[in-house]
Amino acid sequence: MSSVTETGRPHWSGRLAFVLAATGSAVGLGNIWKFPYITGENGGGAFVLMYLFCIVAIGVPIMMAEILVGRRGQLSPISTMKRLAQSEGRSSAWKLVGALGLITGILILSFYSVVAGWALSYTLKSAQGVFANSSADQIGGIFGALVSDWKTLLLWHTVFMLMTMFVITRGVQKGLERAVMLLMPGLFVLLVFLVGYAAVKGDFSSGLHFLFDADFSKLSKESILVAMGHAFFTLSLGMGAIMMYGAYLPKHISIGKATLMVAFADTVVALLAGMAIFPLVFANGLEPAAGPGLIFQTLPLAFGQMPGGAIVATLFFVMLVFAAWSSAISLVEPAVAWMTENLGMTRNVSCWFVGVATWWIGIGTVLSFNEMAEAKLWGKTFFDVLDYLTTNIMLPLGGLLIAIFAAWMMHKSSLLDELDMEEGILFHTWRFLLRFVAPLAVIIISANTLGLIG
Ligand code: TRP
Repeated sequence: MSSVTETGRPHWSGRLAFVLAATGSAVGLGNIWKFPYITGENGGGAFVLMYLFCIVAIGVPIMMAEILVGRRGQLSPISTMKRLAQSEGRSSAWKLVGALGLITGILILSFYSVVAGWALSYTLKSAQGVFANSSADQIGGIFGALVSDWKTLLLWHTVFMLMTMFVITRGVQKGLERAVMLLMPGLFVLLVFLVGYAAVKGDFSSGLHFLFDADFSKLSKESILVAMGHAFFTLSLGMGAIMMYGAYLPKHISIGKATLMVAFADTVVALLAGMAIFPLVFANGLEPAAGPGLIFQTLPLAFGQMPGGAIVATLFFVMLVFAAWSSAISLVEPAVAWMTENLGMTRNVSCWFVGVATWWIGIGTVLSFNEMAEAKLWGKTFFDVLDYLTTNIMLPLGGLLIAIFAAWMMHKSSLLDELDMEEGILFHTWRFLLRFVAPLAVIIISANTLGLIG
């Protein structure tokens, strides 16, 4: 704080602001809702290990690449890719990576918002004390009643979309960031408390064995793809969200350190969520593979039994909503920025355009839990198809292309300059991961699952 940069700001504010925004984007429903339920569906320990491997070997190097590209380009993703491709003497078709990301972000938000709507609804239920002394069956019934009622789902989806677009139109990211700065440590403390509760009241040993005993016979090809896709999803990689934030990162700040901080915080939150939930699952004879409703069917049981549970529950869901909110804005900011820059629209009009389109697509997800639950494509509902397509295919594809661009298309001198690094072992390790390990892992895992090899 003592030293001041040329811009006159205390120099830590740059990294703090970036790490906060990026952590706000990374930590969200992916960590608390999705990680536990896909871990449950994919058999536990071996899946978790695979996910951790993907975070380290694929996620971290690609996150560094995304930040680097964003900071060097200084624009929203499509324009950044175009500008860098030109300055590196490459085809301007690389801007299509930005375009792919823009579409991916809108598709993800369309279902993300519906699930954030569940969290909104549960905030209200918690405050009303609905969960007090309920049995597992009753809690399951409450969730079932919510998702089978499309009108209520649509209402909350609409509320969450309005919240998201409000922040984006008003450009009040700063306000949200400040709220997140308070609420995120709060969420962390509450999760630690819930893990403690699960340790005392739940079947802690079964929960931990499930999460951390790796039985690779349970790991299907499909599970490996899901673990990889989730590494992209949870770190907000592969669509330009982090690239966009990278543009705001001051030059003198170490990209490597900032990345490690974000990836570490994100992973800890996910593991804590798992450690809070699975002991409750096993103690109450619930099904780990219950699917997307898992946290909504387990945590309220604990809230219903603990003293002051209504307050703890309300706090928890409020914080979950904020975590989802700060993630949601990063999903559409690139699209809104691009439309404003290139289509001659005002920021307000772009916001409405993107917001209404996203809301409209979200109706498909709303109906996939009730009226259209039986309408299936490849055995999957609309929500499942959208989730699979974006998380397991589009994000890894975007990430792969970003890795190839940074590692193979950009000159070594540009990379060294942007990372502000000497050409030492760290640089070479990173570049090796980015040139070979991450792309090959993405290609092999995708090809393997989609039946192209093996
Ligand atoms: N990472 C967020 C979560 O885990 C979701 C998210 C925000 C995201 N921005 C993203 C996912 C960009 C993929 C790409 O909840």
